[in-house]
Amino acid sequence: MKAVKIGLLGLGTVGSGVIAVLKRNADEITRRAGREIVVVAAAVRDLSKPRDIDSSDIKLTEDAFSVVDDPEIDVVVELIGGDGIALDAVNRALDNGKHVVTANKALIALHGNQVFKKAQSKGLVVAFESAVAGGIPIIKSIREGLSANRIEWLAGIINGTSNYILTQMSEGGRDFDDVLAEAQALGYAEADPAFDIEGTDAAHKLTILASIAFGISLQFSKVYQEGITNIASEDIAYAREFGYRIKHLGLARMTDEGVELRVHPTLIPEARLIANVNDVMNAVLVQGDAVGPTLYYGAGAGSEPTASAVVADLVDVVRAITTDPENRVPHLAFQPDTLSDLEILPISEVRTAYYLRMSVINRPGVLAAITEIFGDKGISIATISQKDSGEDEQRVSIVLLTQNTREGYLTDAIEQIEQLDTVYGSVVRLRVESLS
Ligand code: HSE
Repeated sequence: MKAVKIGLLGLGTVGSGVIAVLKRNADEITRRAGREIVVVAAAVRDLSKPRDIDSSDIKLTEDAFSVVDDPEIDVVVELIGGDGIALDAVNRALDNGKHVVTANKALIALHGNQVFKKAQSKGLVVAFESAVAGGIPIIKSIREGLSANRIEWLAGIINGTSNYILTQMSEGGRDFDDVLAEAQALGYAEADPAFDIEGTDAAHKLTILASIAFGISLQFSKVYQEGITNIASEDIAYAREFGYRIKHLGLARMTDEGVELRVHPTLIPEARLIANVNDVMNAVLVQGDAVGPTLYYGAGAGSEPTASAVVADLVDVVRAITTDPENRVPHLAFQPDTLSDLEILPISEVRTAYYLRMSVINRPGVLAAITEIFGDKGISIATISQKDSGEDEQRVSIVLLTQNTREGYLTDAIEQIEQLDTVYGSVVRLRVESLS
């Protein structure tokens, strides 16, 4: 049978990995797909740049649209990133009747509803396994492997760069900026690393996971987002003393009131497997009503791990080419006309436990005033501890864990505590999840 011809948009870290994997494993991939998959063209940013892969049999161009408009090409693989040229190119590829594979989480999270609608109307596939958690087949697992289940919640370490930084700060006592520079050099970080450390990349990925888990449309603007920039090494150390690790987590939970969608640093009991997922590795824990908890672990970034997911999507697209468009796996797991409009809860209505740290004057009655505020708000304290704060004997840190409460009550309590004249500056707040 005729080979399926691929046009790549982008030949950087992931694009090079795709070419290497397709060449090295060509025989096995052809046996699986039923047809040969060949990259015939690629759009690059700078033709004069030297490349570390052999691209002699590939037409190279600086014009992404010439690839998208090339009648020889069956499937476009979008690896440009962002939602500028990448979005125009994906839309034009679909208009030209080409299937699309993309690793672009921002594009799917922000424009997926429109893109899937267009693809659906034209009987085309847009595959995006590599957009979430790199090489881990998490989209396929939730969309197909868990399709018998009502998904109750999922929690994931879905930004490798943040995990790398937190791990190195925690295990190696290293400095934030130094580790970030290393993650950039290793090709893990986004083009704009603020997307990693401020939680945007994780929020894009969580938007996608929640949609396929709960059968809701993609709603990036409703995700509560906090990154790792305010994590201090003392919080990592105090969390350890309490038996927790701090991880940057994306959480989606179905509750009776609505859906929780949030990404933020989180204390996780150290005994949980996911608390021990370190460096650039990703993991997603999914709780289904029938299967119970399932955990998916693997490389969340990097050239060949991400290429592994891109090429798997290519194999799926090649198989789909010969099937009836009405009977393919729906883009967002649920049939498009059955997506629900469940409410996404504001963060003030989320219920969870908290770790708090505050700097206070060291004198009798200070603790009593603080605990009285918690009592008034109906917030129960699980553990409380006083820590010396170095040279200044007049000043100590109070570190505590609360039991589950509504975030709005805790915000009110923190506002009152910060107004006490015995409390210095702001209260540090981190969320705690038992994930049991
Ligand atoms: N910057 C991303 C990360 C790459 O660090 O996880 C994979 O999406």
